[in-house]
Amino acid sequence: MIVCSCNVLSDRAVRACLHRGPDCPRTPAQVQACLGCSPKCGRCARTIRNILQNALDEAGHACTATCASSCSLVKVQPAEEGIAA
Ligand code: FES
Repeated sequence: MIVCSCNVLSDRAVRACLHRGPDCPRTPAQVQACLGCSPKCGRCARTIRNILQNALDEAGHACTATCASSCSLVKVQPAEEGIAA
């Protein structure tokens, strides 16, 4: 399913760029950067954020203590996503 019509990104592509560790994308803008594009209209931000949360919940989000201490996944605010509201 296409979740970002501006960049033609699918939910599968979003999930494929996720990986454990401190380099894992934490925001929709980081996911788009990982996939070689950038945010445009921002309408997809909530959907991408939900995919991020669900994928990491399913994986148990078993980061190391170092990673978890700096993990911003559950604290993501729209202003931090680099997308104008
Ligand atoms: S739908 Fe994703 S940036 Fe527009």
